[in-house]
Amino acid sequence: MESNYDLDALVPRYVRKIKVKRLFSTYIMPADDDFEVNFYTVYRHYLFNTYFSRYDPIYEFGCGTGYNLSILARLFPDKRLFGLDWAESSTKLVNAIASAYRFTMEGRLFDFFHPDYSLHVPEKSAFLTLNAMEQLGTEYDNFLEFILSKRPRLCVNSEPFIELYDENNLLDYLAAKYHRKRNYLNGYLDALRKLEEKGRIEILKEQRVYMGSIYHEGYSYVVWKAK
Ligand SMILES: C[S@@+](CC[C@H](N)C(=O)[O-])C[C@H]1O[C@@H](n2cnc3c(N)ncnc32)[C@H](O)[C@@H]1O
Repeated sequence: MESNYDLDALVPRYVRKIKVKRLFSTYIMPADDDFEVNFYTVYRHYLFNTYFSRYDPIYEFGCGTGYNLSILARLFPDKRLFGLDWAESSTKLVNAIASAYRFTMEGRLFDFFHPDYSLHVPEKSAFLTLNAMEQLGTEYDNFLEFILSKRPRLCVNSEPFIELYDENNLLDYLAAKYHRKRNYLNGYLDALRKLEEKGRIEILKEQRVYMGSIYHEGYSYVVWKAK
């Protein structure tokens, strides 16, 4: 493998590309080129330590290169981790990293649009998505049904949520415009809020994180469970 299994090579290119960032609804120009990468590393350690320490196994859907799974594997070496993605290259990479580092993690093919109900989800499981459901636009129903039927103990979605912008603010307005133009996830957070009103789920945390790229905020999260 070209990168010789260096886990730093898993940093997605989009995180480093443009220097201007957004923080607390204003633009900033960080002195450190790696400001967003470093923020993202701290953010994920916080998120994983706060929410996943009690659950096992953990399933990351739309796991890509395994960038997040390799943090989980080092934080929780005894937990079983599953990395699911519809790209075969992702499955191969996750399995290659698992054997190179002896992580207890496994890559598997999975399509959000046609969820694989044969996936075994034991009692203490947790589900994670990180900048993956963003790709679904308004087509999140099949995956949401899948989560509701598999009933993991906890579900954490860290995604750009259009519902959290205040479009009276110019930067938020531009972010929402970008979000719609890219056809990013739209309606999922509202769907969860409605399910909570109906008593079907409990939302434990809905957190807007005021940090992102020049274009939009990508680090907000919702933590919920089926009742
Ligand atoms: C922006 S990448 C994020 C990857 C990873 N979660 C991360 O944070 O580095 C989005 C991932 O979602 C996957 N994806 C997009 N649509 C999908 C679908 N319908 N089913 C499964 N995976 C999908 C892509 O293959 C890609 O790996």
